[in-house]
Amino acid sequence: MADNQRTYTMGRSKEETERLIQQAGLYEDITGQLLRDAGLFTGMKVLDIGSGAGDVAFAAAELVGSEGEVLGVDMNPEILETARTRAEAAGLANVQFVAGDVQALDLPNDFDAVIGRMVLVYLPDPVATLKQLATHLRPGGILAFQEAELLTYSSMTRPEIPMMNQLAEWGAEVFRCSGAHVGMGLDLYGTFVDAGLPEPSLQYAAPMGGPEAWIGYQLMESAFRSMLPLLERFGIATAEEVDLDTLAARIRAEVVASKRPLIFPPHITAWAQLPT
Ligand SMILES: C[S@@+](CC[C@H](N)C(=O)[O-])C[C@H]1O[C@@H](n2cnc3c(N)ncnc32)[C@H](O)[C@@H]1O
Repeated sequence: MADNQRTYTMGRSKEETERLIQQAGLYEDITGQLLRDAGLFTGMKVLDIGSGAGDVAFAAAELVGSEGEVLGVDMNPEILETARTRAEAAGLANVQFVAGDVQALDLPNDFDAVIGRMVLVYLPDPVATLKQLATHLRPGGILAFQEAELLTYSSMTRPEIPMMNQLAEWGAEVFRCSGAHVGMGLDLYGTFVDAGLPEPSLQYAAPMGGPEAWIGYQLMESAFRSMLPLLERFGIATAEEVDLDTLAARIRAEVVASKRPLIFPPHITAWAQLPT
């Protein structure tokens, strides 16, 4: 798909920023593990691409401490205002944010690590982007990325959860139609290899839950609230079919009745270190 035909799948509303922050809580442990496994530690200088409301940058900032620094880059200046306010509220003086397209920004070339979560999925040429990002690393620098895996997720159908089967299919379809790289999670390994980087270490993990009070049901509803304009525009589902106002309650009821926990899209993480 041509670059000018792509549409940011989740939209750019205040509600979407709030949803992103809540969803970050769900993936916090998986991301923290990635950053530790990848080798982030005190004093490092880290670049977080597609930093959004700042959650990955904040996790990195905790690891690198006051002797280190984190630069978050995002093409959406408004979401960076939220990220800056949150950094200040958290007393994180070692994080800065800059607005711009990561494919075009003029950045220093002495970072110890380049990281990103749920961003390569939106880029037209992830191989070229990783190659270019590696030029901003010092020798021995680290690349660590975490991306959703929507291909096997939407094919994990089970007869006892028809509603979740449908939502997973609609979700994958709207990402595909909006020009996002729907197989990005599974393609991370090949993307590193094709970019001429060392073969990455890999992990596959998904948040899941069953308790009636779990936040996951509401978060699934919020995700579909953000995707609804494109679900309708691409003729994938109508507002009546999605029925947002009852969506969380209906998924909860399906989980309770089927005793099958709700699984969120798995994230694949990949990390590698450049030769010294
Ligand atoms: C799904 S959000 C993820 C935010 C954050 N990494 C997280 O996990 O909470 C993706 C972010 O990438 C940003 N983005 C997409 N393409 C970009 C590009 N080419 N350059 C910079 N940012 C980009 C979007 O504006 C959005 O804020």
